[in-house]
Amino acid sequence: MPDKEEFVVTPYEVRGKIDYNRLREQFGTQEITPELLARFQSLAGGSLSPLLARGIYYSHRDLGTLLEGWAKGTPFFLYSGRGPSGPLHTSHLVQFELCRWIQERFHVPMYIQITDDEKFWARAGLSREEITRWGLENLYDILALGFDPKLTRVFFDSRSIAALYPLAIRVARKIPYSTVKAVFGFDPSTNIGLVFYTALQTVPCFWPSWAEGRSVPCLIPCGVDQDPHFRVTRDIAEGLGYPKPALVHSQMIPALSGEGAMSTTGGPGDGALFLNDPPTAIDRKIRNAFTGGRATVEEQRRLGATPEICSIWALWRTRFAETQAKFEEVTAGCRSGSLLCGECKSSLLERIHPFLRAHAEARERAKTWAESAIVTEAPRPI
Ligand code: TRP
Repeated sequence: MPDKEEFVVTPYEVRGKIDYNRLREQFGTQEITPELLARFQSLAGGSLSPLLARGIYYSHRDLGTLLEGWAKGTPFFLYSGRGPSGPLHTSHLVQFELCRWIQERFHVPMYIQITDDEKFWARAGLSREEITRWGLENLYDILALGFDPKLTRVFFDSRSIAALYPLAIRVARKIPYSTVKAVFGFDPSTNIGLVFYTALQTVPCFWPSWAEGRSVPCLIPCGVDQDPHFRVTRDIAEGLGYPKPALVHSQMIPALSGEGAMSTTGGPGDGALFLNDPPTAIDRKIRNAFTGGRATVEEQRRLGATPEICSIWALWRTRFAETQAKFEEVTAGCRSGSLLCGECKSSLLERIHPFLRAHAEARERAKTWAESAIVTEAPRPI
């Protein structure tokens, strides 16, 4: 039996109960302090994304430097991505929703990377055709969040390779095999595609600087499991003459089963709420979801429940409590025992269904411009 304190977080494996403070120490990242949040809020025009206000983004690298640069007139761009192994679920929205919020407030470009190559190398069971299809489907879902077509570009790896490769050549030369072996935990049976892949995840960090011929800082909102890629990026950035990307890291969102993180491929079938789930499946998943409630109504009324371990509370927290007041009302009701789990689930469902209906419509609109957002050419040869 592994020690119960033990946990593993890499881009290719998330296991155990994560202690986020220890992870911050292990990875050597910075805490997002109340002062830094206040600064973010004031530069954003006075309000804060719930994802920041509620601590879902909890750690960063160089966020303060990036924001102060922006305040002094140095624009930055956003970058995030998705490895398309299946449909998107609500937790995937966390990284893109923060990007959308920042793009809206700061009017900055957004680059989205769809890593169809990475997923083919990392997941033996999926065909190229399936991955390509999921790549497009996922892209529509991401763009549907409300990205600005004028400011948003996509690297769809297998289709954008001509645009990425000239920089990838230079990046790859700077990364020794011993580094990827140590950082990602690769062993001798790992295929060589995956060994090379991190170079391609680095390229978008530098791409706008290359295209514009001047230093353009990069901000990457991502799950903390992706940080290892960007440690490699940051180590080589200056040697190539590019700025180190800044990052904000989110916590992993718990699965509806209460065990581990919400995931597309791992875990029991009803662990994740997929954006393409039919309404009956949504109802069933929410009704069966693990909560922080007590065994009986009487006990819950008397002792209250525990939001921090509840998968339903995590959904309120990440997106469905539209205001801070609503979020605090749900949290306090849960803790005091005045709100029972059944009622809480019903009122959450009243928000999830309309959200998914509106999302499906936005997705149709996104399809009209997705293709034109894909970058296929390098700005110039190097
Ligand atoms: N490796 C990521 C995944 O498996 C996809 C990705 C590519 C990404 N570039 C990124 C994620 C930048 C966050 C930020 O899903």
